[in-house]
Amino acid sequence: MINESAYKIVKLSDSEFDYLVKFVSQHYGIDLSQKRHLIEARLASELKAYGMQSYTQYIDMLKTDKTSKIIEALVNKLTTNYSFFSRENDHFEYLAKNIIPELEQAKKRTIKIWSAGCSTGQEPYNIAMAIDSAIGFKRNLWSVSITATDVSTDALSIAAKGVYPESSLDVMPASWKSNYMAKLSDGNFQVASNIRNMVSFKRFNLMDPFPYTNYYDVIFCRNVMIYFKAHTAQQIVKKFYQANTEGGYFFISHSETISRFDNDYTYLFPSIYRKMKK
Ligand SMILES: C[S@@+](CC[C@H](N)C(=O)[O-])C[C@H]1O[C@@H](n2cnc3c(N)ncnc32)[C@H](O)[C@@H]1O
Repeated sequence: MINESAYKIVKLSDSEFDYLVKFVSQHYGIDLSQKRHLIEARLASELKAYGMQSYTQYIDMLKTDKTSKIIEALVNKLTTNYSFFSRENDHFEYLAKNIIPELEQAKKRTIKIWSAGCSTGQEPYNIAMAIDSAIGFKRNLWSVSITATDVSTDALSIAAKGVYPESSLDVMPASWKSNYMAKLSDGNFQVASNIRNMVSFKRFNLMDPFPYTNYYDVIFCRNVMIYFKAHTAQQIVKKFYQANTEGGYFFISHSETISRFDNDYTYLFPSIYRKMKK
């Protein structure tokens, strides 16, 4: 959900609330069972747009949504897309100072990265900046692919443009701001094209089967599974493990843990895991 504005709040009945909670959790993993007011606040504009007085009317429309446009708008409203540059910067440092040199030493100058739940793009662009600054003049010798996915099409369209207000760059290292961000005539800044070209954005729902096994050298899935119930997160961590290469890395956020789940990752540092070679 990108913008929340003031609309008349329509109250959810218990059965309407239960339906929406189940729908979102089954299809998108997000647990809204304690978020009644959030649903009412965020969907108020949808009800207004369709001139509806009750959620029963809205749910009926959802059930017969052939084009998926209503569902797409619902997902855009109910996801939390909060993100910012240099968030948990130690992860980007770890990538630049440990993973890239390790590959360089092994003369394996190829890296495939997945930013899963990339929201408005700050995370994958920071990954690209960290890699570019680490490989420097050897850039042409490297093949770098960064796939960034999210279920919110609103978040992805902001991400693809790569345009951010100057205030959001305060946290970024000064050299990254000058090397990788270009000032636009309206005062905003756009991610430089060489960095944007390193990232491809796609819509992908983490509840769907993952298309690749043994594929990504590094996976970031930070501040996404905190919105899921434990058993859903556990299933998704298993899928990430399959998608990682042997020796590949998995980053979650510092406010999350996967140690309480049954999983095959080896813990390296808080929030950093590795799929060890068997
Ligand atoms: C709080 S943002 C995290 C952004 C970024 N990873 C970070 O740490 O700053 C969580 C993102 O997860 C996405 N998300 C939630 N459920 C998802 C799902 N089932 N599949 C893909 N993305 C999902 C949301 O749309 C949202 O953009």
